[in-house]
Amino acid sequence: MKFLLALVGAVCLVGGIHAQTSTLGTTVTSAINISKNSLSTAIQQLNGTINIADQSVSTAYTQFVQNVAALYTSYYNRFSNYTTIDLSGLNQTICNLQNTMSPPQPIQDWSTTQIFTDVQASAQQIESTLNAAVQTMTNSCAPPCANAAKVATCTTKWGPKLSTAPITIDRITDCVTAELVRFSDIGSNMASMYNNLLTSASNYLKVVDVCDTPAPEVLNNPSPMYGSPSTQCLNTYLQRISYMPINSYVVDSMRYPQTYLIQFRVQRCAKLVELDVKDRVAKVLESFQSCL
Ligand SMILES: *[C@@H]1O[C@H](CO)[C@@H](O)[C@H](O)[C@H]1NC(C)=O
Ligand SMILES: *[C@@H]1O[C@H](CO)[C@@H](O)[C@H](O)[C@H]1NC(C)=O
Ligand SMILES: *[C@@H]1O[C@H](CO)[C@@H](O)[C@H](O)[C@H]1NC(C)=O
Ligand SMILES: *[C@@H]1O[C@H](CO)[C@@H](O)[C@H](O)[C@H]1NC(C)=O
Repeated sequence: MKFLLALVGAVCLVGGIHAQTSTLGTTVTSAINISKNSLSTAIQQLNGTINIADQSVSTAYTQFVQNVAALYTSYYNRFSNYTTIDLSGLNQTICNLQNTMSPPQPIQDWSTTQIFTDVQASAQQIESTLNAAVQTMTNSCAPPCANAAKVATCTTKWGPKLSTAPITIDRITDCVTAELVRFSDIGSNMASMYNNLLTSASNYLKVVDVCDTPAPEVLNNPSPMYGSPSTQCLNTYLQRISYMPINSYVVDSMRYPQTYLIQFRVQRCAKLVELDVKDRVAKVLESFQSCL
């Protein structure tokens, strides 16, 4: 009778430990699933922020080109009545503006794709580590399980650590969300650089104002004797401004180091979290083993 009871007890314990390990497996998998969904949402959010930033930079660029054209056109109109002033260069510049300006490179590029790949790789690493840890705990009561009660106690004590902060993929998600603001800052900085470029273009064009605008009758009847220096002045400056260098590349050169920094930062953050979680899981397993 005693023997029978002991046997029933052992069977119950073994049944109990199986239920418990499968609960541990479900708890950990469920935590992983929830965290992976959050990470996925964060990636979508970051991507959305990048796309919005690109949209705003692109809009700023289009307006910039229109504003430069309007600026040139205002000079063209201002002198178009004076037959002695050669406006052909300026006219040419206005006509070719769309082709000569360089649109910004999108922020959305291989480096942002790399961010998404890197964080997912680290999340995957953590997931595998957690699954392996669950397996280790589960397998420590492989039949015939001599120390079922002990394993149950130790699993109850150490198992929950595998689905509790700081052992969580959510920390990778934090690496991603930290950069949301930075990407939108880059977008607004790039967009505002076009305002600066327009201001400097407009200041550059003001050199024309140093030439006196001569009376039309003087301009239209230049004579060697009363040659109008203003005509020369205007012709020279109008030529110069027609070939005004508009360095819209500066917008890209300002952005590249910043987006690479973000890529580097997220990559490093994800890797450090991955290694830290792996370390912590190893410690949990050590504690579990010593508990047995
Ligand atoms: C976790 O996600 C996987 C794949 O989507 C699914 O098969 C599994 O049932 C989920 N498990 C839990 C516990 O949520
Ligand atoms: C990010 O957005 C771009 C542009 O809409 C899209 O092509 C790309 O697939 C998106 N990437 C992710 C990871 O969602
Ligand atoms: C150019 O000439 C037209 C017609 O004579 C005149 O209406 C217009 O105001 C002039 N424009 C400028 C900028 O002087
Ligand atoms: C400006 O350029 C266009 C196209 O090249 C030409 O048709 C037009 O006659 C030019 N106007 C002047 C005033 O040079």
